Amino acid sequence: MSIPVITLGAVASAFVPGLEQLRGPVTVVRRCEELAELVAACQTGLARAAIIAPGAADLTASLVDRLRFTGVVIIALRDHPPGAADPVVDGIDYVEASVEPAVLAAAVSRAVGRFEAESARPRDSHAYADPLGLPDVMVPQPPDATEEPGTGRIVAVWGPSGAPGRTTVALNMAAELAAAGSSVLLVDADTYGASVGASLGLLDESAGLAQACRIADQGRFDGAALGRIAVSVAVKGGRLRVLTGITRPDGWPELRPAALGKVLEAGRSLAEVTVIDRGFCLEADEELSFDTLAPRRNGAALRCLEAADTVLAIGAADTIGVPRLVKALAELDDAVPTATPRVVFNKVRAAAVGRAPETQLREAWERFGPSVRISAFLPMDHAAADRALLAGTALLETAPASPLRLAIAALADVPAAGDTRRRRPGQRPRNVKFPGIPARLPR
Ligand SMILES: Nc1ncnc2c1ncn2[C@@H]1O[C@H](COP(=O)(O)OP(=O)(O)OP(=O)(O)O)[C@@H](O)[C@H]1O
Ligand SMILES: [Mg+2]
Repeated sequence: MSIPVITLGAVASAFVPGLEQLRGPVTVVRRCEELAELVAACQTGLARAAIIAPGAADLTASLVDRLRFTGVVIIALRDHPPGAADPVVDGIDYVEASVEPAVLAAAVSRAVGRFEAESARPRDSHAYADPLGLPDVMVPQPPDATEEPGTGRIVAVWGPSGAPGRTTVALNMAAELAAAGSSVLLVDADTYGASVGASLGLLDESAGLAQACRIADQGRFDGAALGRIAVSVAVKGGRLRVLTGITRPDGWPELRPAALGKVLEAGRSLAEVTVIDRGFCLEADEELSFDTLAPRRNGAALRCLEAADTVLAIGAADTIGVPRLVKALAELDDAVPTATPRVVFNKVRAAAVGRAPETQLREAWERFGPSVRISAFLPMDHAAADRALLAGTALLETAPASPLRLAIAALADVPAAGDTRRRRPGQRPRNVKFPGIPARLPR
């Protein structure tokens, strides 16, 4: 198949007749005079390579990144033989402008081939941290994705600002499901405060989600590819796959909604349950029609909620958290009318809302809250939450009998393995007054 190519500048477009005469490896699909024109054309997915004339553009690493992000490699023409003083930018192939068209075409083929091989390559290693000195909290795991169309379910854990506990719930639900034998993918899609990696003690700074989105955006992506990118984390009795989030403030534009949608679909093939830790914001981003790299921080949030079979709306159980959740649910209804949220109050305690806090919250919710019913109450449990954070692991490892762990296990509707307290047969754990979300997380 011929490689579609864009040229920039007169010296590059002078090659067009010669390249066309080859009737072979490359096809020039557009000639551009301006860099902005070239970038816009690349973003439409038109080309796989850009041939840039000497002096037609500042050749920088960020230009390389920008074009690579759209799946395009750069071949830069030089008007003189390469000298030691010439700048060399990684990711650019340099070719003398005096070469024959066939030589240039061969250079284009090589560069595109190399780029495609790099894009498909799995990560070399998985960084891991073990804050308590425990052995192997995380080990590499070979992909075992099937080719079947995905049937896994997607649960988005979302909620308003104010740290109501989205990450705590997402991570621990994922761990509970994994410990109960499900294959689970945990995705940190919080573009404002990614923290799943840190909460699991991972030193991996490479933002697996961004990497997955980048590859998905180039058109080749499935559960197997996702399995190679996700890191594998051992939790007691099970194993979690994790796509870490973007912690660099400038990294969030990498989460293009279309690519993220493909990643989540691949998650359905890879895992029985994909749990997404999703940030609070719902506003639609303004997108400049001529610049498809314009901000889409919140577009990613919307895509997660659209893709989810179940949205858990986490609210802090206090006088600020409750009205915030009411408002956020109204916004959710406007932004993603198809979402069917389930309300979960977290950090439930008498000190914040009065005696019998669950009754108080229920009554307040009936008076002021939307018609969505409350699915679960998760108790305030500082000791357990802090211990798990310090250890960089899930509650089921560090605080298996804690009220918070038991409540989250009930929310996930899995038996709380490792809870050693004695109970009569059929008796529910104390502090879990509401049975939570039904088994199998229905659509
Ligand atoms: N039920 C709980 N009891 C005690 N502490 C809790 C509970 N749930 C969460 N926490 C603690 O509250 C803090 C915020 O929780 P978490 O990071 O899960 O919130 P978030 O909604 O994800 O916040 P962010 O806005 O940072 O994404 C953490 O220190 C966590 O350990
Ligand atoms: Mg969070």
